[in-house]
Amino acid sequence: MSNEYFVIKAQDNGVQVIGLTRGQDTRFHHAEKLDKGEVMIAEFTEHTSAVKVRGKATIWTKFGKIVAGEADSE
Ligand code: TRP
Repeated sequence: MSNEYFVIKAQDNGVQVIGLTRGQDTRFHHAEKLDKGEVMIAEFTEHTSAVKVRGKATIWTKFGKIVAGEADSE
């Protein structure tokens, strides 16, 4: 497996981290709720190929830091 990790820090209560299945069938398989300040460290696995984040959060991936939950200003 790729062993690619990412970090999500919730900037609000009730941020959802949703895991989507790998393979032909793309569906939600897990939803984790984070409250403000909580951090989740997770990886892409055999079962998880994509992640959807709902709410205000800071996300670190190999692409850098992403501030999510607000529209970009540009
Ligand atoms: N059981 C899941 C898996 O091994 C756990 C998991 C890993 C997960 N990464 C995730 C759940 C990202 C949600 C989001 O794939």
